[in-house]
Amino acid sequence: MGSGGVLDQLRVPVVQAPMAGGPSTPALAAAVSEAGGLGFLAAGYRTAAAVHDDIVAVRAATDRPFGVNVFVPTPDRVDRSLLAGYVERVRREAVTYRCATGDAVWGDDGWEEKLATLVVERPPVVSVAFGCPGAEVIGRLHGAGIEVWVTVTEPAEAEAATAAGADALVAQGIEAGAHRGAFSDVDGVGEIGLLTLLRLVARVTDLPLIASGGLCDGAGVAAVLVGGARAAQLGTAFLDTPEAGTSAPHRAALRGGRRTLLTRAFSGRRARGIVNGFLARNTALAPAAYPHVVGLTAPLRSAARERDDPEMLNLWAGQTLCGRRSGTGEGGICGARWSGCEVLCVLRARGGRVARCCAIRGRAAVGLRGALRSADAWRPHTGPALTLGLFHQPPVATPIGRPSAVSKRRSPSAVRRISYSPSWCRLW
Ligand SMILES: Cc1cc2nc3c(=O)[nH]c(=O)nc-3n(C[C@H](O)[C@H](O)[C@H](O)COP(=O)(O)O)c2cc1C
Repeated sequence: MGSGGVLDQLRVPVVQAPMAGGPSTPALAAAVSEAGGLGFLAAGYRTAAAVHDDIVAVRAATDRPFGVNVFVPTPDRVDRSLLAGYVERVRREAVTYRCATGDAVWGDDGWEEKLATLVVERPPVVSVAFGCPGAEVIGRLHGAGIEVWVTVTEPAEAEAATAAGADALVAQGIEAGAHRGAFSDVDGVGEIGLLTLLRLVARVTDLPLIASGGLCDGAGVAAVLVGGARAAQLGTAFLDTPEAGTSAPHRAALRGGRRTLLTRAFSGRRARGIVNGFLARNTALAPAAYPHVVGLTAPLRSAARERDDPEMLNLWAGQTLCGRRSGTGEGGICGARWSGCEVLCVLRARGGRVARCCAIRGRAAVGLRGALRSADAWRPHTGPALTLGLFHQPPVATPIGRPSAVSKRRSPSAVRRISYSPSWCRLW
C-alpha cells in the first residue's frame, strides 16, 4: 500500500473525524469529500447492514474518496465488583429519571460482520480506534485495496501499528472530543498533547500522520501541518453543521460555554465531553468497563435525547470548544456550511506573515486577489473561511490581518497564480 495514497488525492488536508452515536452521517461525509477533504463514516454502534447502507448512500452522493471507522474489540477485563456498584448507582439515577437501565454486558460491536462488509464494499480507507488489528486483518483489508489507518495516542502504539502494516496513523491528542483511541484504557496512558504527540510519533515511524484533537480553525490546522502531519482531522468543528446528525441538546450545549472533561461515566471508557449533571455526579466513581457501561446507560441517554435534556446526555466535544465563538469568527471553520460552499484557503505562513493565498473552487485555483475578494463575498453566506498556513515565499512584510487589509497592502505583482497540491504540506 503506497504511503499517503488517499491523502495524496485530497485537495484540502482536512479529514472529517468519524463520530459514532449519531453525528456522522453519509451527508456529512459526502459534503466534506466533495469539498476536497476526506469524509468519514462511523461504524461504531451500528449494524453491519446499516454500515453497508451508509456506504451506498455516500457513494450515491460523491465519487470522491471517503473512509469508514470501526472500533477494535477490547478484552473483557473488568473489575466485577466495581461494575456492580456502578450499575446500582446508575439504576438509582434511572429511577429518579423515570426510565430503565440497559444490560451492562461485553460485546464486540459486530467486528467480524463489519470487517466482512468492508472487505466487500471496499471503501478507500478504513480507520480503527481502541487498538490495532493483527497483521492478518490488515492484510485482508489490503487485499481488498483498502488503506488502513490506526488511531494512536502514544509512541509505543505508533510502533506497534507500523509493525502491523498500517498505512497511516491518526495521532489523537488529549484535546480530542469523545473517546480516547488508546489501545488500553488506563489513566495517564495516551494523554499527550497533540503537538507533543506528533513530534514523538514522528521519531518512531515514517508513516503519514493525521493530527486529531482540538483543531477547529485554520491556525490550528496550519500548526499541525508544520508539526509534521499530512492532514488535520476535525470532529467537534463539524458537530453543529447542518449535515451532521448531532442531537438538538448536544448542539445547544456546544454553544453553552461550558468546559470539557475526561469521563468514563457514560461508556466505561475515557472520553471527553462537556460537563453536565450526569458527568459531574458520576465521573469519580465510573469504572473502566467498556462497552458494558455503554449498554447500561443507553436507555438514559435516549430518554434524555427525547426530552431535549442536555444534563443526562454524553455531550462529546474537544477542548477547543472552550474557545468557540458564536457567530462567524474570522479564519475558523466552526459552524461553516459545507453544502454548496466553496472551500477557501487563505494560506498563512510562519512568523505571522502572509505568503500566498488561493481560493479553491472545484479544482481551479485563483490568486491572492480573487481569494480575498471571495473571502469577503462568501463570509456573510458561508460563515468563516478555512484558513491554512503553508509556504513563506516570497517574504512579504505584511502582518496577518483581515484579508481586506492584507489585500490593500500587497502589490499585484507579488500575486502569482498557483494551484493547490498536497505536496506543499511536505515542504516544511
Ligand atoms: C461526537 C464525537 C464522536 C466521535 N466518535 C468517534 C468514533 O466513532 N471513532 C473514532 O475513531 N473517533 C471518534 N471521535 C474522535 C474523533 O475521531 C477525533 O479524534 C476528535 O473528534 C478530534 O478532536 P476534536 O473533536 O477536538 O476535533 C469522536 C469525536 C466526537 C466529537
